[in-house]
Amino acid sequence: MTNSGTTVADTRAHTAQAAPLSCRGLHRYLGEFESRVHVLRGISLDVAVGSVHSIVGPSGCGKSTLLYVLGLLDAPDDGQITIGGEDVSGLTDNELSQKRNELIGFVFQFHFLMHEFTVLENVMIPMRRLGRLTPRDMRERAASLLDAVGLGDKLERLADHLSGGEQQRVAIARSLANDPKILLADEPTGNLDTENSERVFRLITELVKREQKALLLATHNPLIARASDFIHEMKDGVIVRSGPPA
Ligand SMILES: Nc1ncnc2c1ncn2[C@@H]1O[C@H](COP(=O)(O)OP(=O)(O)OP(=O)(O)O)[C@@H](O)[C@H]1O
Ligand SMILES: [Mg+2]
Repeated sequence: MTNSGTTVADTRAHTAQAAPLSCRGLHRYLGEFESRVHVLRGISLDVAVGSVHSIVGPSGCGKSTLLYVLGLLDAPDDGQITIGGEDVSGLTDNELSQKRNELIGFVFQFHFLMHEFTVLENVMIPMRRLGRLTPRDMRERAASLLDAVGLGDKLERLADHLSGGEQQRVAIARSLANDPKILLADEPTGNLDTENSERVFRLITELVKREQKALLLATHNPLIARASDFIHEMKDGVIVRSGPPA
């Protein structure tokens, strides 16, 4: 299906622009021997720039597994992942981690903050890994991201000495450290009360729209799913329905 006047190259360029994150036919098995489980059974999706996509589905249907695979933290057993228009299947481990550091930000279900580090240091960790900024610029950028999530007055606080909602906001600031094009979030508002959960979600979605990022998140929260641009319903490792909220 090519529109008249549109070349294949045009279409490809458009797809790369429109979908910084795509996958086709992803399969993933976990466990060994008799406990081996076929967790992802042929997942295909595209997340466009400036859009928020939710994955919903019962516990154990494969949402987190999918986010790990799409985030290049775990390799699929079959299928193709395209990040920023590039097929990543042939990349070495080093190239994959470079891509991950440059292009992808994660907000995990459990924040995985370094608890003995300060808030500021936690947000600087991904910048140190990428190694593009001077220590001074890293500090400035981390401080401004933390300011944006309302934690400008807690920069030197130990991550351990924050409330759950505050830790979640640190995790969001950290996910943005390297200005990634793609954000992957696993229950980004899990364990937050309704008010904080809405606040955190609004914060991320405004940023996605303003800075034209792509966000894919897994959630059990129907309010968040309904506020997304697109919902993917997952069941037993397949997407059974995709579309804008009804
Ligand atoms: N290392 C493993 N070995 C075997 N099975 C695993 C392993 N890790 C996860 N699984 C199984 O894979 C399936 C998908 O798990 P996953 O964590 O992706 O689900 P989920 O949709 O994120 O669930 P939740 O909503 O509870 O977070 C589950 O049935 C789980 O038990
Ligand atoms: Mg999960």
